[in-house]
Amino acid sequence: MRKLKTTIGVLVSVLAISAATAEEHGDDASTDITNKLRECAGCHGENGISIAPTMPNLAGQKEQYLVAAITAYRDGTRSGVNAAMMTPMAAGLSDAEIAALAKHFSAMQ
Ligand code: HEC
Repeated sequence: MRKLKTTIGVLVSVLAISAATAEEHGDDASTDITNKLRECAGCHGENGISIAPTMPNLAGQKEQYLVAAITAYRDGTRSGVNAAMMTPMAAGLSDAEIAALAKHFSAMQ
């Protein structure tokens, strides 16, 4: 029962996130980042405040910085022990998805 409640809670927040994203930024269907945001939330938190002291907050970070950081993970130019966690997360992202993710997190308070 506890597990079910948690699952429902996660689903509700994911729906809330995607609704907010669509409304605030008018993302079109071609850059649907709903599933990506669910992955990011595992470490960076649903509100962009990270879940552990070893992981950075993303909420309110400069949009251009976020684009550069995610692109650098994807392209392998930002590397290291911690960056190794991000490399697979960024690997499959298109430029449009990176732009949408950066916009999303920078708009968070
Ligand atoms: C497995 C945990 C994990 C997941 C999942 C994850 N990240 Fe990260 N992320 C990290 C860690 C750890 C760092 C710090 C890496 C470093 O030191 O370069 C980081 C760093 C970042 C940074 C750079 C922040 C800064 O201040 O320089 C951005 C931007 C970022 N992640 C975006 C994302 C996005 C977008 C997603 C979802 C697609 C995501 N992350 C998913 C663990 C994760």
